[in-house]
Amino acid sequence: MAQSKRILCVGLVCLDIISVVEKYPEEDTDTRCVSQRWQRGGNASNSCTVLSLLGAQAAFMGSLAHGPVADFILEDFQKFHIDVSMVTAHAQCDHPTSTVICNVSTGSRTILHMNRNLPDVTAEDFSKVDLSQFSWIHWEGRNASEQVKMIQQVQKHNSSLPREQRISVSVEIEKTRETLYQLFDQGDVVFVSKDVARHFGFCSAEEALRGMYCRVKPGAVLVCAWAECGAGALGPDGCLLLSESFPPESLVDTLGAGDTFNSAVIYTLSNGGSVQEALTFGCRVAGAKCGFHGYDDIAGKFGEKETRQ
Ligand code: ADP
Ligand code: FRU
Repeated sequence: MAQSKRILCVGLVCLDIISVVEKYPEEDTDTRCVSQRWQRGGNASNSCTVLSLLGAQAAFMGSLAHGPVADFILEDFQKFHIDVSMVTAHAQCDHPTSTVICNVSTGSRTILHMNRNLPDVTAEDFSKVDLSQFSWIHWEGRNASEQVKMIQQVQKHNSSLPREQRISVSVEIEKTRETLYQLFDQGDVVFVSKDVARHFGFCSAEEALRGMYCRVKPGAVLVCAWAECGAGALGPDGCLLLSESFPPESLVDTLGAGDTFNSAVIYTLSNGGSVQEALTFGCRVAGAKCGFHGYDDIAGKFGEKETRQ
């Protein structure tokens, strides 16, 4: 599948310091790890990694501090052929970092995240982007009121274009923060997490989709992933679509499973696939990802190598 235009993801890049353990540690004990590594993290950044590994041309927009951590991050973006020309540098800030305990016996990932002072991208930063190069822009819900203004810029850009040239907008509402809920009616595709769904009292993707579809804008598709239960989607025709999950032989690392799922869905839809195809591919790629550490192996299993640069 040839892709003429690029996919932009707007959101966080952080450093993940990952300690792999065989058993989740007891409090106030001294544990030897199986391995430790630095990994570029953050939802939008991870989504770019997966998009690129699948064969898309991915671009990242977010903030970066200065120093060795920022250097590591930039080098890693380059390794994955991700365009970082829209990154804003903040020399005086510290880089956000997550300490992650990844339990290889269960695949669980426990995240301790800290962002001391790195600001998010603003609508003013976004106004400098040449929108004509993108076919799809994805926002990881963060500074939502600014993000709404960014999406309005895209809507303005789209308003003068024929349908087939318009930029598709997706948003992810992952955290249970009231301010993020203003993003529900902003996306053509809206990813809502099981955490948010549970927060609203829903116990399955199906319940969540039926219960929250009234929040999205007319014509939008609402998508909800539910870990080992797979994922579902609901569009304007009211027909509920579901995919089972595709668990790997052994669950070793679920860090970024949601980001992987989102990217595989976006990748499929941006290439003209159906919502059902997107859901199933999302669950296949995310399920496989849970069976290995990091993201690199996605390329070998699912990447369209002939389209990679
Ligand atoms: P997050 O990483 O945001 O918590 P989820 O846990 O909802 O995201 O998982 C996203 C997708 O990853 C799911 O729809 C599923 O396809 C896949 N996935 C996650 N955990 C598992 C698992 N234990 N077994 C199989 N697939 C999984
Ligand atoms: C995974 C992730 C990690 C990061 C954390 C931030 O989805 O993006 O890479 O440390 O979430 O919340």
